[in-house]
Amino acid sequence: MTAAILPSTPSAIARAAALLRAGRLVAFPTETVYGLGADATSEHAVAEIFAAKGRPRFNPLIVHVPGLVEAEALAVFDDRARRAAAAFWPGPLTLVLRRRGDSGLSLLASAGLDTVALRAPAHAVAQALLRATGRPIAAPSANRSGRVSPTEAAHVVEELGDRAALVIDGGRTPVGLESTVLDLSGEAPALLRPGGLTLEQLTEFLGPIAVPVGAAPKSPGMLASHYAPSLPLRLEAVRACPGEALLAFGPDAPPGFGEVMWLSREGNLTEAAANLFAMLRRLDRPPFTGIAVTPIPEHGLGRAINDRLRRAATPR
Ligand code: TXA
Ligand code: MG
Repeated sequence: MTAAILPSTPSAIARAAALLRAGRLVAFPTETVYGLGADATSEHAVAEIFAAKGRPRFNPLIVHVPGLVEAEALAVFDDRARRAAAAFWPGPLTLVLRRRGDSGLSLLASAGLDTVALRAPAHAVAQALLRATGRPIAAPSANRSGRVSPTEAAHVVEELGDRAALVIDGGRTPVGLESTVLDLSGEAPALLRPGGLTLEQLTEFLGPIAVPVGAAPKSPGMLASHYAPSLPLRLEAVRACPGEALLAFGPDAPPGFGEVMWLSREGNLTEAAANLFAMLRRLDRPPFTGIAVTPIPEHGLGRAINDRLRRAATPR
């Protein structure tokens, strides 16, 4: 069985909102990746997300809201958080803040933590759905746990079959990588996940930001192996190995690969981010025995691209 996919018309959005209010799951586009949404105030609906994804219950979800006004009803905003939201929302930035006692949010949505991750997505369909539903929507990426995030409606169906009552098709998601997760619940801001908003943009605005490495993940989704295709992935490739397909960045691709897809021939990181997950999916098939990726610079969106590639390359 596969889920119903509807183009993002006003009637589809009204239908999706009704399903969400009735406690059902709806997949929808955001500017980053497709999300699998549920009413964030319903413990039962949120539990359905964990079941549909096969997601460990210690890994909390992002709660989506139209903007700062709705967010302030859910979490404690200090001046710094308010300024960050004002500067970057709607957009690919998730803020981890202390939950308000009267938020009404499902406890499972934040996996029992006293913090909650909030984001206002910059996508017309996501915004229309949030406003039509009139409730905060918990939404992880709409893939099975540990796999590559969906950037097209068809990917959602590949991942989840009929686990969503409805998939709203808004075309390809423009950013292509998940949001940046910034922890503002403590003294010093900490980057929990690099993503669609670059560390450079954040630092320019907030000053120095701690980038925790190695330690026990504060962002439990930052498990070593994640975002993984089925085939093994080989990074920093400079020559071909038998049987491999290649994801190339920049004008020169080493010869000898079974197939080459260009993340960006011009070496443009924004274009590469938008292509990354769809191309990984395309090359993840026989007759290839592995996927190689040429080096990608570690700045701007390259930081988030390399983060996803390293996790995808980690042996399971
Ligand atoms: O772009 C995105 O963020 C997409 C779209 C759908 O909005 N959503 C997404 O959700 O990527 P998900 O569940 O795949 O990733 C959420 C990340 C995980 O790494 C999770 O551990 C972290 O956010 N997170 C959520 N709540 C947290 C909290 N209270 N403290 C620390 N990390 C948290
Ligand atoms: Mg995810």
